Amino acid sequence: MNLFYKIITFRPSFGLRIVTGLVGIVLSLAICGIVGLTDMVAAQLKTNDEAFEGRLMEAGAKVYFEQCARCHGLQGKGADGAAPAISSIAFLGAQNTNPPTPSQRLKDIGWIGSLESYIEAVTTSGIPIKSSQAWEQNHPPFAQRFAGPLRDDQIKNVTKFVANWRLKPFTDGVVDAPKPGAGSGPQPTPMPLGPKENAGLEVFKGAGGCTACHAVRGVAAGAVGPTLNKLVSTAEKRVTQADYKAAGGKATDAAGYIRESIVAPNTYIVPDCPQGACPSGVMIQNLQQILKPEELENLIAYLMTLR
Ligand code: HEC
Ligand code: HEC
Repeated sequence: MNLFYKIITFRPSFGLRIVTGLVGIVLSLAICGIVGLTDMVAAQLKTNDEAFEGRLMEAGAKVYFEQCARCHGLQGKGADGAAPAISSIAFLGAQNTNPPTPSQRLKDIGWIGSLESYIEAVTTSGIPIKSSQAWEQNHPPFAQRFAGPLRDDQIKNVTKFVANWRLKPFTDGVVDAPKPGAGSGPQPTPMPLGPKENAGLEVFKGAGGCTACHAVRGVAAGAVGPTLNKLVSTAEKRVTQADYKAAGGKATDAAGYIRESIVAPNTYIVPDCPQGACPSGVMIQNLQQILKPEELENLIAYLMTLR
């Protein structure tokens, strides 16, 4: 009782009150400081992390454009006969839908691991046997331990880059892989070529020198100019485009467009080539002088079979 009484009647001296007050202020400032600092450090670590992720993504983009774009396309949309889309919703699923959409492709092939592990596996060792007749070539292995050009960290980065398309996957203009088994039968026999078209094919492969730059399934694998597999439908689309007309293009149908592409190649420069924006002035400029008139007509007849 005595002690309790002493405590409640305790009157500290003026000096002691000032000292305890100061100690209190210093302590609370110190606590604020510590809390503030840890927040700052956390925020800094987070931006460091993001910057680091960003750098890995950039490194992955570089690998993609150097190694993958020639077959899978600049936007990963795939190309007929060359490679399937790897930026499409069917392949990646989507994270910009609510709830996120899972990958249909992984479900179809029964892959139970993550999307990243699939991309990494295909890139590392390649697909030694074609999964379908839809593709001209087997998937090359990229890892150095499979005699490819890439280190494991580069494969991780390019995987990150590809998987990142999940945030906004493409839905149009994509060439998706066929369902397992669907593409394994023989391809429909191509239309047999008549004598004129056959002669044109010879010009395409020979005097015209077209195979150095253009790909056509089963005929050529050039990757400088656009793939010509579906040239006729491409041409039909191009002649209706505003940018084609603005460039001074005069053709109104596929045959006219194809002729113009050969005799006046600089009229309209196609925007996308396998390695990036199409270079202008690369198409041979004087084909009309190089080829005999009959060769030119046969060449056009052949190109009109690419549908
Ligand atoms: C020579 C052309 C070519 C190159 C270069 C290429 N690919 Fe492929 N890619 C293919 C083909 C063809 C397929 C389909 C193979 C099959 O299913 O048999 C494919 C399939 C894939 C698949 C699986 C797609 C699916 O639907 O199952 C992934 C993932 C992939 N490639 C990633 C890459 C990456 C990453 C690179 C670059 C490091 C790359 N590819 C470079 C031709 C290529
Ligand atoms: C040295 C490379 C090179 C050669 C050889 C070449 N081309 Fe091209 N070709 C290109 C490039 C690059 C483009 C896209 C730029 C442009 O529009 O001029 C193109 C565009 C085209 C287009 C337009 C395609 C489209 O999608 O609209 C056609 C058609 C074409 N070439 C046909 C031919 C034919 C036929 C030959 C052979 C007589 C040939 N090319 C030879 C590089 C070449």
